[in-house]
Amino acid sequence: MNLPDPSPVLDLIEAFRRSKTMFAAHGMGIFERLHERPATAVEIAQADGWDAGAIARLLDANAALGLLRKTGESYVNTAVADAYLWSGSAHWLGAYVRYSDEALYPMWGNLADAVREGGPRWKQTFGFDGPLFSSFFHTDQAMRDFLRGMHGFGMLNSPTVVRAFDLSGFHRLVDLGGATGHLAIAACEAYPELRATVFDLPRVCVVAREYVAASEARERLDVAEGDFFGGDLPEADIYSLGRILHDWGAEKIEVLLRKIFERLPSGGALLIAEKLLNEDGVGPVHVNMQCLNMLVCTEGQERSLGQYRALLERAGFAEVEGRVTGLAIDAMIARKR
Ligand SMILES: C[S@@+](CC[C@H](N)C(=O)[O-])C[C@H]1O[C@@H](n2cnc3c(N)ncnc32)[C@H](O)[C@@H]1O
Repeated sequence: MNLPDPSPVLDLIEAFRRSKTMFAAHGMGIFERLHERPATAVEIAQADGWDAGAIARLLDANAALGLLRKTGESYVNTAVADAYLWSGSAHWLGAYVRYSDEALYPMWGNLADAVREGGPRWKQTFGFDGPLFSSFFHTDQAMRDFLRGMHGFGMLNSPTVVRAFDLSGFHRLVDLGGATGHLAIAACEAYPELRATVFDLPRVCVVAREYVAASEARERLDVAEGDFFGGDLPEADIYSLGRILHDWGAEKIEVLLRKIFERLPSGGALLIAEKLLNEDGVGPVHVNMQCLNMLVCTEGQERSLGQYRALLERAGFAEVEGRVTGLAIDAMIARKR
């Protein structure tokens, strides 16, 4: 009997081990320690009172994964680790690594229950109750980690998302749920005539102001506190929603989209940054994974362009265009006639 190649199953048996190998090294400060200063396993173990043999195994595994370079008995970060796992880098993804290790990994342990019951796992895993973002932001550190994690991903995608469509005819953009402001910042950097507002919950605006102040486009940027479900929206001829719609179910989305549509002047638009699922729901794999992740930690899901178009048209928008960027985040624009 000719057996099929077992590689897909074998690979998936191992996949979480690879993630955890990086998470553990990151959590133990290895990529901070090995930025430009090589060290041996014995030196690292002695400094922290750790088991030298076990540290050597962890370092070797990270070297095999391409995150460390081993020369003789010494290890140092590779360029990839320096760019994304060392906290001094502007492109640091470490906050998202920590959030994945400390929040998502335990919650994914309850994935089957999330599927059975159709809802997030904050309460089951951590005992958190209440509105969704009070769980994400259960401490100030958790909020900052989440926002910096979003920022790291955003920096990789927003410059492309804001150029996916020609926005040069717009004057004021309001980025709803804009977090650190990476999308508003990228938009102002791409369009010299544009002014932009980062709109988010009051606690988040404290953090947003720090990021906006560091931007070269800060003269054209401001930050506004508010609740996009409960309160008024600042005036704009273009709104943006970056990874907002995937947090919520259809009813809340309809409320938000109608509100945006009513607030826009005719000729105005809504720019959306989300991952796009294939129309049959199968693939790209990273979007399916994020769709399950949304099940585990939010009220939402990932959607196809067709599904977004239906939601947008129900709220009144006329033309809806999508662009697959080839990056982790895709772009859509919906216009009001
Ligand atoms: C998944 S994050 C996306 C952040 C950002 N747009 C990005 O792409 O990185 C969702 C954001 O929505 C904000 N948010 C959640 N509920 C909100 C509400 N009712 N009003 C305003 N902002 C809200 C959160 O604080 C958070 O910054």
